[in-house]
Amino acid sequence: MTDSTTPRKVIFDTDPGVDDAMALYYALAHPGIDVVGITTTFGNVWVEQATANALYLCMLAGRDVAVAQGASKPLVKLAEPPPDFIHGADGLGNLPHRLPVTAQADPRGAARFIVDTARQYPGEITVVAVGPLGNLAAALQLDAKLPTLVREVILMGGTVIESGNVSPVAEANIWNDPHAADVVFTAGWPLTMVGLDVTHQVILPLALFWEIAAHHQHPATSMLYHAVQFYSGFYSQHDPLVGAINGCYGHDVLAFVVLTNPELFRLQAGRVRVAVDGLAQGQTMMQRKPVSYPQPGWHDSIPHTQVCLEVQAQACIRVIEDTLMRRWLAMPAAR
Ligand code: BDR
Ligand code: CA
Repeated sequence: MTDSTTPRKVIFDTDPGVDDAMALYYALAHPGIDVVGITTTFGNVWVEQATANALYLCMLAGRDVAVAQGASKPLVKLAEPPPDFIHGADGLGNLPHRLPVTAQADPRGAARFIVDTARQYPGEITVVAVGPLGNLAAALQLDAKLPTLVREVILMGGTVIESGNVSPVAEANIWNDPHAADVVFTAGWPLTMVGLDVTHQVILPLALFWEIAAHHQHPATSMLYHAVQFYSGFYSQHDPLVGAINGCYGHDVLAFVVLTNPELFRLQAGRVRVAVDGLAQGQTMMQRKPVSYPQPGWHDSIPHTQVCLEVQAQACIRVIEDTLMRRWLAMPAAR
């Protein structure tokens, strides 16, 4: 658990996305986290849909959180179509209907929102980034001092030892915008990487989301169960280990669990760079030995990233269950 009694102020940078929705609801449910804003990016869906989903998720949970729209495409490479076979065409498992939403996105773009909020609360903001990293790269363009203004950045993305999920070496968020990711890994802020090395160890059973929905009897958790059913269908079909449990990987939610329960992870510090093109495009390459390499790109001045390499999976699942079972939901405001 976080030791401070003051909740941690978080900007959630996201491409919702089913596991993004789990992560947002974990953050809203957790007493140690104060979500001060959501910034959206393309990734699991196009950015307009990501923004609509973020507004929808907040409305359903009865929570009023600022949502600012961000990157619509990668910095350099061409955008690829969203993976509707994983998250559904709407990003939330093809919901059969939606309640109306009256809230609108913040008129500022995501990068401006991140910079403004970091200046408003210097040293207090944690950015939890669980999509392609264009918003953080753009925020660094707006203010090069951003790394000294934010408290830390925790990102879900990349992999060191575990195989990739879009190529043998690349994880999807990094693959989707490798140039932005390399900017983020070399910016010099306190940075933690939560990649497939740990997210592939934590299989969340679909039954857990049924129990959460049955417990709350609330539109937000019923919607989440529907979305996770679709998402679990993909993972259960494609990965025999996941299929044996009838579940899914929680990827993004683990970026919040490392914030609230760092004791459940083993981390190692080292330089991380991203292969921006070629066969290894999107690979997160980690320097795991404390030696000096004279090669360009690996100079001693490149900052270290704290990389999650091991996780206590069952304890993580218990924390996720306990958090989502809390009393945290209000009734949807706009009907
Ligand atoms: C990451 O890619 C997206 O599909 C998920 O939301 C997660 O952020 C996992 O590779
Ligand atoms: Ca995501």
